[in-house]
Amino acid sequence: MTKRSGIAVLLITLMSAGGVYAAEKNIAGSMRDGEGDPVAGKEKAEMCGGCHGAEGMSVDPAFPHLAGQYAGYIYKQTLDFQLGNRGDDTMSAMAGMVSDSQDLKDISAYYASLKMMKGAPGDAKLAKKGEKLYLSGNKKLGDFAACIRCHGEQGKGLDKKNALFPVIGGQSRDYLIKQLKDFKSGARTNDPASMMAVVAQGMTDEEIIAVSEYLSGL
Ligand code: HEC
Ligand code: HEC
Repeated sequence: MTKRSGIAVLLITLMSAGGVYAAEKNIAGSMRDGEGDPVAGKEKAEMCGGCHGAEGMSVDPAFPHLAGQYAGYIYKQTLDFQLGNRGDDTMSAMAGMVSDSQDLKDISAYYASLKMMKGAPGDAKLAKKGEKLYLSGNKKLGDFAACIRCHGEQGKGLDKKNALFPVIGGQSRDYLIKQLKDFKSGARTNDPASMMAVVAQGMTDEEIIAVSEYLSGL
């Protein structure tokens, strides 16, 4: 069976049997280290660069940086857009254009191989508040909300081998705010075990803005 027809079968399965859905999703949703070819991925990523930037550093704050993000995370998110587990009119349409899973692995490996995303400091006072939340959590959730537990030092990821927890340090501020608000409102629900929903629901909008200010400066 070709990969293209594999995806067609998967889609039919999704539409016909809800029960099989989760199992199929887990198989499709994982990418192991070394499965993607960053050199082949560079050319394949040209259609993504228009929004995500030539070197994975986007210039429009609505589009996230992909530079230095975990390959496995890029792969999972793009599949989630394809499967409708994460919704965005623009990005869902783009994700649908990569129908070959090896192409997607190559593109993901390419972005992961680039120099890791880096931000520029903004409002220092606000960032200081955000840093406190990042390191120690808040009143409502205590240290459960301490982002560093899952996103690591400076938001650069917990562990080189663990693509479950994305790089968020140096990411665009507006994009971070939107994701946290989407997790809070339930507009985005593709986080494993609702980890981010719990965190975001325990945050005020002011805290969301402060922590995003901090992260986008790293
Ligand atoms: C026309 C603009 C556009 C193009 C082209 C585009 N994207 Fe996106 N992408 C977006 C937007 C907008 C978002 C943010 C959606 C949101 O707010 O949830 C996004 C988000 C993403 C994310 C999630 C990143 C994260 O940190 O969670 C990934 C991964 C991604 N895109 C991969 C790709 C790939 C791979 C391609 C090429 C096949 C591509 N995109 C092409 C607009 C685009
Ligand atoms: C218990 C672990 C955990 C904690 C604590 C946590 N996160 Fe997350 N976070 C995750 C996971 C897992 C994901 C990936 C969700 C997915 O796969 O779609 C994520 C995703 C995100 C994203 C989306 C990134 C992207 O580009 O798609 C943002 C933004 C984020 N977290 C911010 C935060 C902030 C800010 C805090 C602290 C206030 C925090 N997280 C605390 C586990 C955690």
